[in-house]
Formats: sequence, C-alpha cells, structure tokens
Amino acid sequence: MPQIQVGVLGATGAVGQRFCQLLEGHPWFEVAALAASERSAGKHYQDAVDWRLSTPIPEGLRELRIIPTRADDMPKDVKIVFSSLPADIAAQVEAEYAREGFVVSSNAASYRMFDDVPLLIPEVNKEHAKLIPLQRDQRGWDGCIVTNPNCSTIMLAMTLKPLMGLGLTDVKVATLQAVSGAGYTGVSSMAILDNVVPYIGGEEEKMQNEPPKLLGTFNGERIINADITVSAICNRVPVIDGHTESVWVDVVASPEQVKEAMASLEPLIGLPFSPKRPIVVRDEDDRPQPRLDRDVNHGMTVSVGRVRRDVVKGIKYTLLGHNTVRGAAGASILNAEMLADAGYLT
Ligand SMILES: NC(=O)c1ccc[n+]([C@@H]2O[C@H](COP(=O)([O-])OP(=O)(O)OC[C@H]3O[C@@H](n4cnc5c(N)ncnc54)[C@H](OP(=O)(O)O)[C@@H]3O)[C@@H](O)[C@H]2O)c1
Repeated sequence: MPQIQVGVLGATGAVGQRFCQLLEGHPWFEVAALAASERSAGKHYQDAVDWRLSTPIPEGLRELRIIPTRADDMPKDVKIVFSSLPADIAAQVEAEYAREGFVVSSNAASYRMFDDVPLLIPEVNKEHAKLIPLQRDQRGWDGCIVTNPNCSTIMLAMTLKPLMGLGLTDVKVATLQAVSGAGYTGVSSMAILDNVVPYIGGEEEKMQNEPPKLLGTFNGERIINADITVSAICNRVPVIDGHTESVWVDVVASPEQVKEAMASLEPLIGLPFSPKRPIVVRDEDDRPQPRLDRDVNHGMTVSVGRVRRDVVKGIKYTLLGHNTVRGAAGASILNAEMLADAGYLT
C-alpha cells in the first residue's frame, strides 16, 4: 500500500491526541495536517495541547502548526480526514470535507444514524460500507462520511454480534465509564473524585439506538435493523481510561457456548489495526479490570469475563475495552484501513 496522507480534526482533544499517538509509525497512513479550533490555529501542536496523554507527543508532530478546521485549509494531497470534533461542529464541517472529496472517518455522533451513512465496526458489519456509493450518488459528494459508534456501544456490539445466532433479542447493560470518555473539559475532578455520577447526557439513547443498525443487514439499498432491544444505564466512574459494562442477554445457550461464540469473532486479515483476537474471554473471577486489561492488543481487543447464567433468564457477563482506542481513535483508524483496502479512497 503506498503511503496515504491523512489529517486529524480536533487534534488537540482527548481523542485527537490519541489519533496522533496511534498514527505514529502507521505503515499506511502519514499525518500531514492537524486542525483544531481558532483558539489553537497557528500554534505548534506541542504548545496547543494544554494537557497531555501519558504518552509523549510524537516527535514528528511537535512542531507541526495547527490549521483551522475548514476544508479549504486542508492540504489537497490529504485523502482521509479523521474527525474528533464536538458533534455540533462535526455536523457542518464533515459534510464540507466529504463534498470536497475527502474520506471522513468520524468519531462524532452527528451522522451516525443517517440511512446513507455507514456506522461501522469492521469485525461486525463491514458489508455496511457498501452504503458509500449510494451516499455519494444521493448527496453528490466525491468523498464520503463513515462513522464509528459511541465508545460504549462499540464494545457492547462486538460481544453481541456472536450472540445473534443464539436467539438474542433482549439486552440490558449497565456501564462504568472512564472520565476520558467525556473529553478534557467534560467532567471536573471535583465532581468525579471519590464519586460515581449516574448520568451521562445522551449516552443511554446512543447505546439503545445504535446496536439495531450496527447488527442489521444491508439489503443492497439500505440497512434493515436487527430485531433486538437494548436497555442501558450509564454511569461515570473515577477511572482514567477503560469502560466496563455489565451485560444481561436473553440467549438460550450455556455459558460455554457464549464464551466459544465470542472468542470466535473473526479479525480482519491484513489490516494493521485489526487485533489478532477481537475478543478475549477470561476465566478468572476478578477480570476484566481497566488497569489490567484495557491495553490488550494495543487497546483494540475487548476483554470479556464472568460469563455465567443469570438467576432470572439467559446469561450475564462483564466486558471491558479501551474507550479512546477501541472506542474512538483506534476504531476510526481501523475503519479507514478497511476503506483503503477495499478501494473506497477517491
Ligand atoms: N473521549 C472519548 O472516549 C470519545 C469516544 C468516542 C467518541 N467521542 C467523540 O469524539 C469527539 C471528540 O471528543 P473528545 O473527548 O476528544 O473532546 P475534547 O477533548 O473536548 O476535544 C475537542 C476537540 O475539538 C476541537 N474543537 C472544539 N471546538 C471547536 C470548534 N468550534 N472548531 C473546531 N474545532 C473545535 C478542540 O480544539 P481546541 O483545543 O482548539 O479547543 C479539540 O481539539 C466528540 O464528538 C465525542 O463525542 C469521544
């Protein structure tokens, strides 16, 4: 694969910094431009980030000057734009990029539920990328927008996909979500230290609405939603990275069958960010845990444990994934690799 130039929108934020870290040394993609708000434009990247991930800023990006977020300012040899913009800004900016011929791989919620926009997890529904030619036709765009789901939904849907063949119709989930999921300005330290906040604005709706589309089938014209119902309760907890979820599913299967089905979720061969094992199933009583399990396969693997029969009905289990890697930047990078590999770049 020849080197492909990419840009990052919202490069100074929690997800934007993760993009920069993950794209360092990527075998296919080279970061050519970083964009953020007018507050940051014109500054060197290292001076524009006012807090840091625990990993250093990649050497080659430290002195890169932040550009404004307009499509006109993006160098024309950039093919893929990774977006980690706030949803209200993304709604207007991402369409502008797609119209100008860029492939937009977005984390933002703005376009996820549009009928002509793929909501992608390559291991779950890669055939949904076939919406792209329809999107281009309908909107008259040379580029396109593809989205990854909400961070908690990605991990949940990866574990639900293998259960579709076991009669799954009803899912209940309670999350324990890390603070990095809210972005740098999202939740104050005084609100979260020594505390649990039982509300994350809009999160329960996203977790309930996105899985039927994700697990749906493409009929050649549109996605037919899967016939499942998800009920979610979302909590913010004082963990820096790594979302944990307690899940109840109504499948008629033994714990062993569920474990086997999940462990069999296939990786995508030949894509650099595809983990060898999308799901790892653990048997220890006290796993998975954020500090111990969020970085499995560089943060791209979801860990599942405590798979057992529920006393009322079906099976219950605990899952854990890295929210800014598998749940955000790593997910967008994997989507872009799949599009590049399948010939969707213009
Ligand atoms: N955090 C997660 O785990 C996660 C997971 C999945 C999806 N997401 C989604 O990803 C997006 C980014 O989240 P985040 O957590 O990284 O947020 P964040 O830390 O608050 O970062 C926001 C980024 O957007 C830029 N920005 C803000 N206002 C802008 C404007 N008016 N014009 C252009 N750029 C602007 C900021 O630039 P300045 O620094 O210049 O202000 C910054 O780079 C959101 O849509 C979020 O819902 C986040």
